Amino acid sequence: MPATPEGPTPAGGQGAGDGQRSGGSQPNAAADGLVGEGIERGPVTAAGDGAEGRAQVARIPEPPGREELPPAKGDSDLRGSTPDDMEPPPDALLVVRGLKKYFPIHKGFFNRHVGDVKAVDGVSFALRRGETLGVVGESGCGKSTMGRSILRLIEPSAGSAHFEGNDIFTMEKGDLRRMRRRVQIVFQDPFSSLNPRMTIAETIREVLGIHGIAKGQKANDRIAELLRVVGLRPEHSVRYPHEFSGGQRQRIGIARALAVEPDLIVCDEPVSALDVSVQAQVINLLQDLQRELGLTYIFIAHDLSVVEHISDRVAVMYLGRIVELADARQLYRNPLMPYTRALLSAVPIPDPRIKRERVVLQGDVPSPANPPSGCPFHPRCPHPLKDADCAKIVPPLADKGGGHFAACIKVPLGAGSDGGGGLPVLR
Ligand SMILES: Nc1ncnc2c1ncn2[C@@H]1O[C@H](COP(=O)(O)OP(=O)(O)O)[C@@H](O)[C@H]1O
Ligand code: SF4
Ligand SMILES: [Mg+2]
Repeated sequence: MPATPEGPTPAGGQGAGDGQRSGGSQPNAAADGLVGEGIERGPVTAAGDGAEGRAQVARIPEPPGREELPPAKGDSDLRGSTPDDMEPPPDALLVVRGLKKYFPIHKGFFNRHVGDVKAVDGVSFALRRGETLGVVGESGCGKSTMGRSILRLIEPSAGSAHFEGNDIFTMEKGDLRRMRRRVQIVFQDPFSSLNPRMTIAETIREVLGIHGIAKGQKANDRIAELLRVVGLRPEHSVRYPHEFSGGQRQRIGIARALAVEPDLIVCDEPVSALDVSVQAQVINLLQDLQRELGLTYIFIAHDLSVVEHISDRVAVMYLGRIVELADARQLYRNPLMPYTRALLSAVPIPDPRIKRERVVLQGDVPSPANPPSGCPFHPRCPHPLKDADCAKIVPPLADKGGGHFAACIKVPLGAGSDGGGGLPVLR
């Protein structure tokens, strides 16, 4: 078998690329002009106002009533279409192809370039207007780097990201600035991205000023409206960030992002630092805003349970690549990748009568500076069919049926279509 199989991948899958640039400081969205036009839209009701195994498995344990994955037939599993081969949908807002971000490693007296941290290693996907793409994976798998590269908060090493047909990666300063009024980011820790010496009104007024959206009384009115939209009160505008709870601060982060009336918001673990009850409030708020304002989201989390209810589709990342990409319902009902199954096994089921066997993956995520050969997951993979090919073949993110993409050579074509893989409903 060839070391790198050919085959189609999803209009949103892995790609190739090369080159590298340095980069890496934590950007400040506001300072970077990451905020657009005023909110002239109708009111939004904010949800809530509190603002606030086994050690090693030899095989994948199946949830109750679940059958074994059907064995792969020959090399048929390498033939599925990949995201790179497919035409993006006509209503695509963002089309990312072959995105790579390598951080160079320099050593020694002469600062020689001795290698790269391959933080994002060939990611492709298309995002429809109004859709939410959930992105999940363990810490360090490249989720944030992917989000920041798309916005060019850090310079990508390779690939393209077309926003309404224009490639963000080749945009000149002026176009980039205009684009940034339409694409915003909300960070996990709003505290670190809010200036502690500025009141909330000053923070949002600065954003409105940078983009020439509003000043004077018009800006004040807009700030009051934005705070109301995210479930805060106008009088909160004179307070400083430390005077708010974590959930309230995240609402402020969302208000700042909304100030420029964006189309797309990259939410980078926006609820990971919050209590579970407050997580639900912020997620509900984001969903309300999406319905009201027609927003498109890339919603990053390290936990599949967080993205389940907000996502239309889910991309699972591992070591800088998307390893599974599917309609959210399909992915939760019929996860194809052993890695996704392991992540899903950690998601609690609210029904105490149903017990799910926990898959505890052995070891940590390997270093992206020295990724394993072949399938990057092979050192930890508990799939019963894992064999020597897994260490040699780089599995393409291939359509296994019904638009369900998976990067595993042991998952046969047809496993992804509803019923096609013969896999029963997971839950
Ligand atoms: N500025 C940087 N310089 C070098 N390596 C980096 C830099 N930023 C991130 N990385 C590395 O890239 C990998 C992906 O990081 P990140 O995108 O933050 O992952 P995630 O968001 O999934 O936790 C990690 O190994 C991380 O250490
Ligand atoms: S291709 Fe990767 S995920 Fe699939 S069985 Fe082999 S090691 Fe496991
Ligand atoms: Mg991150």
